[in-house]
Amino acid sequence: MSCHFKGSNIGGGINLDGYVAVESYAKNNSLVGSVKHSGFSPMPKGQPKLDDCKISKIEAWVKAGSPNN
Ligand code: HEM
Repeated sequence: MSCHFKGSNIGGGINLDGYVAVESYAKNNSLVGSVKHSGFSPMPKGQPKLDDCKISKIEAWVKAGSPNN
């Protein structure tokens, strides 16, 4: 899965590389909102929505308090 990474590939000024960076998007709901295409900038941009299984995993992880595992 190619989302937002450090270096020349950083997309839209959004860095999702590393736990601390992702956690902030988990906590403000934009991570789940964007992959579910509900209310936030739809992600992945210009590509088909992630499958339901991947979305459920992300959602479950955020609901569990986005543990650093
Ligand atoms: C599953 C993969 C991806 C995830 C999880 C993801 C996640 C996110 C999140 C959480 C934001 C912030 C949204 C907000 O605050 O409303 C964002 C913004 C953004 N993302 Fe992604 N992203 C993904 C793939 C991509 C790809 C492939 C591209 C470009 C080809 C991209 C380009 C952007 C841009 C340009 C923004 C800034 C907001 C905008 O202009 O719409 N993302 N992304």
